[in-house]
Amino acid sequence: MGLSSRICSISLVLAVALLLNFTDARDHLVGGKPDAWQIPSSEADSLNSWASKSRFQIGDSLVWKYDSKKDSVMEVSRDAYFSCNTSNPIAEHKDGETKIELPKSGPYYFISGSKANCDKGEKLIVVVMAARGSRSTAYSPASAPTPESGVNGPAVAPTSGSSGLNGGVMVVVGSLVGFLMM
Ligand SMILES: *[C@@H]1O[C@H](CO)[C@@H](O)[C@H](O)[C@H]1NC(C)=O
Repeated sequence: MGLSSRICSISLVLAVALLLNFTDARDHLVGGKPDAWQIPSSEADSLNSWASKSRFQIGDSLVWKYDSKKDSVMEVSRDAYFSCNTSNPIAEHKDGETKIELPKSGPYYFISGSKANCDKGEKLIVVVMAARGSRSTAYSPASAPTPESGVNGPAVAPTSGSSGLNGGVMVVVGSLVGFLMM
């Protein structure tokens, strides 16, 4: 196999793995339904009650749908979250259909751009978990491919039942080892 076709094959495998990785990321509609970005009717109905039932992972996105004439979404610091301080947000969104990606692990704080609404509970904390892939329990680190499996090429990489990321990484590792041994 020539060098250029080998590079081409490797690029293709990487592209497929990236695609699998991206399709693994999820959009979370805040509150679980449109127009949920409102003053909650009760504690049980609050946005944080919804958030506590969801799992957020690196690369996922939050999506808000609301009336842009009446409301907005502010990403704020922890202090501003608790005091409903709308004067100096990290970011402000008022397009009525806001999508925010969660690029790293840790807490994110969001409040309504209306201080009065925030004071009445229109606010949200989302905590993104540290590691990707925990959604799937099909693989443990111990099942990572060995050089032996790589020699036999990607065909033997076990992908059934794995999440997109784990399967993609295993195929890439297997393929790269396979190509380099040629
Ligand atoms: C709100 O935050 C700004 C900037 O972070 C600060 O200067 C201001 O004093 C705060 N306002 C209140 C009421 O805490």
